[in-house]
Amino acid sequence: MQDTKKFKRTLVTTALPYTNGPVHIGHLAGVYVPADIYTRYLRSKGEDVIMIGGSDEHGVPITIKAQKEGVTPQEIVDRYHNLIKRSMEELGISFDIYSRTTSEIHRQTASDFFRTLYDKGEFIERTTTQLYDEKADQWLADRYVTGTCPHCGFDGAFGDQCEHCGSSLNATDLINPHSTITGNAPVLRETRHWYMPLDKWEPALREWILEGHKEWRANVYGQCKSWLDEHLQPRAVTRDLNWGIPVPVEGADGKVLYVWFDAPIGYISNTKELLPDTWQDYWKREDTRIINFIGKDNIVFHCLIFPAMLMAHGGYTLPENVPANEFLNLEGDKISTSRNWAVWLNEYLENFPGKQDVLRYVLTANAPETKDNDFTWQDFQARNNNELVAILGNFVNRALVLLGKYFNFAVPERGDLENVDIDTLDEMACYRERIGDLIETFHMREALKEVMNLARLGNKYLADTEPWKVAKTSPERVATILNIALQITANLAIAIEPFMPFSAARLNEMLNIEKQPWCRLGEDNILESGHNVTSTPSLLFVKITDEEIAAQLQLLERSKQENVVKSWRPAPQLPDISIDDFIKADLRVGTVTACERVKKSDKLLQLSIDDGLGGRTILSGIARYYAPEDLVGKQVCFIANLPPRRMRGIDSEGMILSAEDADGRLVVISPTGTVKPGVNVK
Ligand code: MF3
Ligand code: ZN
Repeated sequence: MQDTKKFKRTLVTTALPYTNGPVHIGHLAGVYVPADIYTRYLRSKGEDVIMIGGSDEHGVPITIKAQKEGVTPQEIVDRYHNLIKRSMEELGISFDIYSRTTSEIHRQTASDFFRTLYDKGEFIERTTTQLYDEKADQWLADRYVTGTCPHCGFDGAFGDQCEHCGSSLNATDLINPHSTITGNAPVLRETRHWYMPLDKWEPALREWILEGHKEWRANVYGQCKSWLDEHLQPRAVTRDLNWGIPVPVEGADGKVLYVWFDAPIGYISNTKELLPDTWQDYWKREDTRIINFIGKDNIVFHCLIFPAMLMAHGGYTLPENVPANEFLNLEGDKISTSRNWAVWLNEYLENFPGKQDVLRYVLTANAPETKDNDFTWQDFQARNNNELVAILGNFVNRALVLLGKYFNFAVPERGDLENVDIDTLDEMACYRERIGDLIETFHMREALKEVMNLARLGNKYLADTEPWKVAKTSPERVATILNIALQITANLAIAIEPFMPFSAARLNEMLNIEKQPWCRLGEDNILESGHNVTSTPSLLFVKITDEEIAAQLQLLERSKQENVVKSWRPAPQLPDISIDDFIKADLRVGTVTACERVKKSDKLLQLSIDDGLGGRTILSGIARYYAPEDLVGKQVCFIANLPPRRMRGIDSEGMILSAEDADGRLVVISPTGTVKPGVNVK
């Protein structure tokens, strides 16, 4: 299964996140956590491996964000690049370099790459018509145009997509389009661009993937096959935009490289920046294994377009595998930056200090490897409390506490082994290969399950041997048992390191040993007899409380509310009625003389109204928005001629009029001046 022999070194790349916002748990589960597990594992094996990361700083999402805030794109990318870099570091994502596509070395590398293809005649040129904003004197990328959706009639559709009905669009399809920059109607203008003739590379790509990489994940292989079966078309690799890498060709003023052309070249630039002298070893040799960690929306770019670019250039090694993950949802809804529906890494780190490994654990245990998965705070709490605390933390703590109690924290010597000891040590010896094979084939969640099984083995061993009972009769037997239990903890420190590096370091510290290499996983003599471990063991994991979880759910609830308000639209106007219909409704003003809550209802207030006719009682569902004393003495509008309605044993004689705000809040309607109670509203 393990094919490391074939390769002398490994280059791990991670999709470069757009710097138009912080990173969230979806990015982490999809790309950075699995890539880090893989890289840490190879490092632990002593292999030659580097992990490349960085920011994707070009493209329209960034210019849009800048425009929204009224700042320059550079300010946006600086802000988020630094934020993302810092928070990834804090989560222990162990990049060898985390650079950025606005770097000079990247501009040069991408520019040269384009120029090489240009000089080799690998591009075709085409003239098309695009929308142009004459007032702003600027070409309009699809996202800069809004108009009426030709499919559903929604009038806030964007040029690339209608968010109302979900259709994907071309800006030129929109009915009545206007520029989001000036509001002007754009005009059509001709423009000339360079295209990658992907059709030319289709046979080579078919051969390389469909014949040569049947072992790729089914989702990746399947997506490639369906693109290839539908046949590839030429793709534009330049854009009319003023944010990006200028097209390095005479007469291409105002044109930049398409962001998806320059960004993957960022992997090369960043390797160059890291290893100015030896970067080519990682890119141009058959004995290098290149692995691209990405999310599923990036498959076409990494498996078809970038490889076609590399083939066209010549001399580059193609990826050995592209283990793309599916998506992680949050509490049942698609994660969305613009709707603020996410758990942001920087916020998590602030809210759960010291709990990096809990997040790493949960995102791996629930990794969307074969299908979309859901992150819920309840599952987060359950996995922490029932797995990390109850299984892993519990075993380690029991072993150390028992060692303290019976041997004053010095590892005792083993005596004769019984069957249970031999079976346990044999079982322990299997984990190195079992976990390793799973990591090398990108089954991170299964691998993590096996790590936990090793902890379970430890718990079972203590349960089976009961050292606390044996201690009374046979000190020698207890010595053997605790020696073995401690060897299991030392093995765990190795096994958890790729997944939970902070806990691994703390465990090593408690065991008072250096970090051990992967090859020692399975050994039964990592701790020598007589070795002293710490005499102050602490808990590796602590329970997460219901209150902590409730606070997170409340944050999400707030952002849901804000979204409801943002997407609120007035109800469409109702069909016409006659004036006779209108005057049938007996609308009046009355003065509230008394007001109280209706018992056992959190919605209803009971109002006594002076209506000039002797008074009446009206119940109204406004208790969540008004305290009774707020309303006493105020004038309100009500409809007087509805049949009485009985609620909670009280007859309500009419309805108070109120406006329902976008967030559902009710605001009572009141005349702007004081009038005589009982007058009509017309
Ligand atoms: N920025 C892209 C995204 O977030 C990923 C770019 S990956 C690279 O979807 F290969 F282009 F760098
Ligand atoms: Zn639509």
